[in-house]
Amino acid sequence: MAPSLTLKKEPAPRSAQTGWKHRLPRLQYAYDALEPYIDERTMAVHHGELHASYVAQLNTALAPFADLQSRSALWLLRNLDSLPGAIRGTVRASAGAHVNHSLFWNALSPKGGGLPVGALGEAIARGFGSFEDFRTRFEAVGAALSGAGWLWLVKNRSGLAILTTDAHDYPLADGAFPLLLNDLWDHAYYLKHEKRRADYLKSWWPVVNWPEAARRYQHAVHSPVTTFPRYPWTPQRS
Ligand SMILES: [Fe+2]
Repeated sequence: MAPSLTLKKEPAPRSAQTGWKHRLPRLQYAYDALEPYIDERTMAVHHGELHASYVAQLNTALAPFADLQSRSALWLLRNLDSLPGAIRGTVRASAGAHVNHSLFWNALSPKGGGLPVGALGEAIARGFGSFEDFRTRFEAVGAALSGAGWLWLVKNRSGLAILTTDAHDYPLADGAFPLLLNDLWDHAYYLKHEKRRADYLKSWWPVVNWPEAARRYQHAVHSPVTTFPRYPWTPQRS
């Protein structure tokens, strides 16, 4: 996806000598807490090995560029065209993976499931007809993606939308603000579901963290989506 970029003002970079680095966020639950819907081994590999490797790749790519080391992963994604060509592809993949996975862990909860309530529940009913219609549509759009990518429920200027992005791209265009996302890479479900992505998509609803999606919806409603709102669950740095 070709991102539509607008340079966003951020505080001036701190010296690289501060040693800031992107780091793997801690999960708010144990690797086995999402059983039986998402298995412990998948979580351990997915978070502890794969996400960690993306963070390491990002830090390695940025190592020669002191002026970029204090930039957030989101800023890097929004400003890919301004990055040195030698690292642009690596940063696009690794920062995207870092952002998306960081959001994804918070989109899941051992106490998840149920129905979205409040303003988000109303918006889903208004936008898709009913929650069941939304769920059917979400699964269908995810199943239709060819290859690896991410499945998103976003709020954009016209309301709610379901979309996919390829690889580890983040939905930067059209002021989209992510409310809910699912990882459609094989590594997210292969150990339990093998190639059956549709089964995975049907099985994950009991661990969906609707209160988190509702908080993100409130944030999107009350923030101008043409900017890139800061949000407490952005990736961490040390
Ligand atoms: Fe993943």
